[in-house]
Amino acid sequence: MSAEPRRTVLVGVTGSIAAYKACELVRLLVQDGRRVVPVLTPGAERFVTRETFEALARNEAPRDIYPHLTSAHLLVVAPASANTLAKLAHGLADNVLTEAALAFAGPVLVAPAMNVRMWEHPATRANLETLLAHGVRVIGPEAGELAEGETGLGRMAEPQAIATLCRELLGQAPGSLAGKRVLVTAGGTREPLDGVRFVGNRSSGRMGVALAEEAHRRGAEVTLVASNISVALPSGVEVVEAPTAADVGRETLARADVDVILMAAAVADYRPAEPRDGKRTKDSEMWSVTFEPTDDVLAELGRRRRNGQILVGFAADEGERGVDRAREKLAAKNGTFFVFNDVSRSDIGFDADQNEVTLVSRDGERTISKRDKREVAVAILDEVASLLGGG
Ligand SMILES: Cc1cc2nc3c(=O)[nH]c(=O)nc-3n(C[C@H](O)[C@H](O)[C@H](O)COP(=O)(O)O)c2cc1C
Repeated sequence: MSAEPRRTVLVGVTGSIAAYKACELVRLLVQDGRRVVPVLTPGAERFVTRETFEALARNEAPRDIYPHLTSAHLLVVAPASANTLAKLAHGLADNVLTEAALAFAGPVLVAPAMNVRMWEHPATRANLETLLAHGVRVIGPEAGELAEGETGLGRMAEPQAIATLCRELLGQAPGSLAGKRVLVTAGGTREPLDGVRFVGNRSSGRMGVALAEEAHRRGAEVTLVASNISVALPSGVEVVEAPTAADVGRETLARADVDVILMAAAVADYRPAEPRDGKRTKDSEMWSVTFEPTDDVLAELGRRRRNGQILVGFAADEGERGVDRAREKLAAKNGTFFVFNDVSRSDIGFDADQNEVTLVSRDGERTISKRDKREVAVAILDEVASLLGGG
């Protein structure tokens, strides 16, 4: 029983050994009540037949795609070959699928499948970056056994997982945060030791910037409190510079009357108690510095939190005890949920492109597996949107 309108999904299939798995995806989408329009590349037809898809979709694979473009709600390309990824990244339109992708204005999901060396090739990496920057969603690939007896990253995500993400994307309107005001803190604070030196941390601001961009994409009015961000600042977002912990506290508390606060910045817990004026010149003496604790901005926001406001804390911690500590912080600071990431790992978190996080709420925990920070931002804002009732 569902009141949801019947939604149309264009399913693009390309010339990969994983093309047979797209049959199962189409079956699952049809089972979900979707209207599926299969779109096969000539490459795909070397592996699977158009008739199989037409039978599963109970719909013809159209020769003229244009009438379907305006009525479709989602384009999913599964499997997406290295070749088609490259074409999508560069806007080529030389077959029915790439033409459709270029002319389609709705959300696009790709599920790459290829040999591990193709996947790791700098050309594919760059194409993927371009696609992510264009707002394309990517699922997988996964590690496992590949064609020709190889193992590695390159297997297409399972049809069940793709179908689940399709469900999310079809429910998630681009304007799911329209009319909402969102405040994001990002970056790492720097606490002065003297006129030229500081104590800082390795946060690049990438995670917070991704959150600000995604909230803006969903129609929110976004303010970004930025602490020494080393990545490009997002457009369409108000940016307020806040280099130190005291600046973050002042600027955030002054703007806290919003619907959602995402505290992604790495704010110093301690700062030099007596920073010197001017530069300390070098001599042979020891230099002892006493640190004092900074104000806990998140706890103050928690105290001031009004009914219905979503307050999300970020906990950069180490190892397995980190989730327990995030749970304790959630209770102590009156947050809605905490995003825990393990900073003892060098492949995720601080100054890395990817992150793996665990969302810790009063109802339990949910791990968002390792992925690009933009994809983590999508998952976090899906959670926020569903808490606000707009997901
Ligand atoms: C047996 C076989 C398996 C292939 N599997 C893949 C694959 O998994 N991923 C991929 O990117 N290319 C794969 N290719 C290469 C593509 O089929 C080729 O690049 C083709 O031009 C893709 O066209 P399309 O993207 O328009 O469908 C395979 C080729 C052969 C012969």
